[in-house]
Amino acid sequence: MITVTDVHKEYLDGETHVRALRGVSLEIEKGEFLSIAGPSGSGKTTLLNVIGCIDTVDSGSVLIDGLAVTGGKKGDLIEIRRNKIGFVFQSFNLIPVLTAYENVAMALSLLGLPESQIRERTMNLLAEVGLSNMEGRRPAKLSGGQQQRVAVARALVKDPLIVLADEPTANLDSETGEAILQLMKGINQRRGTTFVFSTHDQMVMDYADRLCRLHDGLIESDELRRSA
Ligand SMILES: Nc1ncnc2c1ncn2[C@@H]1O[C@H](COP(=O)(O)OP(=O)(O)OP(=O)(O)O)[C@@H](O)[C@H]1O
Ligand SMILES: [Mg+2]
Repeated sequence: MITVTDVHKEYLDGETHVRALRGVSLEIEKGEFLSIAGPSGSGKTTLLNVIGCIDTVDSGSVLIDGLAVTGGKKGDLIEIRRNKIGFVFQSFNLIPVLTAYENVAMALSLLGLPESQIRERTMNLLAEVGLSNMEGRRPAKLSGGQQQRVAVARALVKDPLIVLADEPTANLDSETGEAILQLMKGINQRRGTTFVFSTHDQMVMDYADRLCRLHDGLIESDELRRSA
């Protein structure tokens, strides 16, 4: 469902060319729970950003659900961004002036759905991530783990095929991080949503069904694991 073929990506840092991805190919099927691991600077964020249409490639191709992220029609890119992918970030990235409810509901409001439908869907999701009764709180009044739960609900609100999560547990203590992993794993099993996340953390890697290790912009290993 995600097909990455021979992707190269270079950044220019002043005069220096930084080769962030040096020919990455990867095939990800629907329903996978896959972790991308690797040392700092190995290209994890770059790879997630390329899959998520946040960044462009220099060469190679990325296909999502048959639509071209690179070199395709502009409409394909819009369709992928709008409907196929949700994001969870290391630093949660919630909008501080909005409540938990509003942070989750916003994407549906932008679609212009009827209010009753937005409310039902948002409240169900907040319950699913364990935040019943907290819908009225702003991020500053929530713990880190609770903020990340809001972010997971927000990523799921349009029922995407894929959730991309860049170090989703990096700002959480290990216990809270594990709870977020369990939450994502449960959603993966119940809904069949594909999860691709990056991490440094061995505990997080242990939750993955499949582990890809990046090193200097290349995939160094790719193994199936027993599900946690
Ligand atoms: N916008 C940019 N400009 C210049 N160089 C960049 C940029 N973004 C990333 N890089 C470089 O590209 C390489 C890969 O970076 P990337 O952020 O993908 O690594 P990472 O594996 O996510 O690292 P970390 O574990 O620290 O988050 C690094 O050498 C980094 O310095
Ligand atoms: Mg990174």
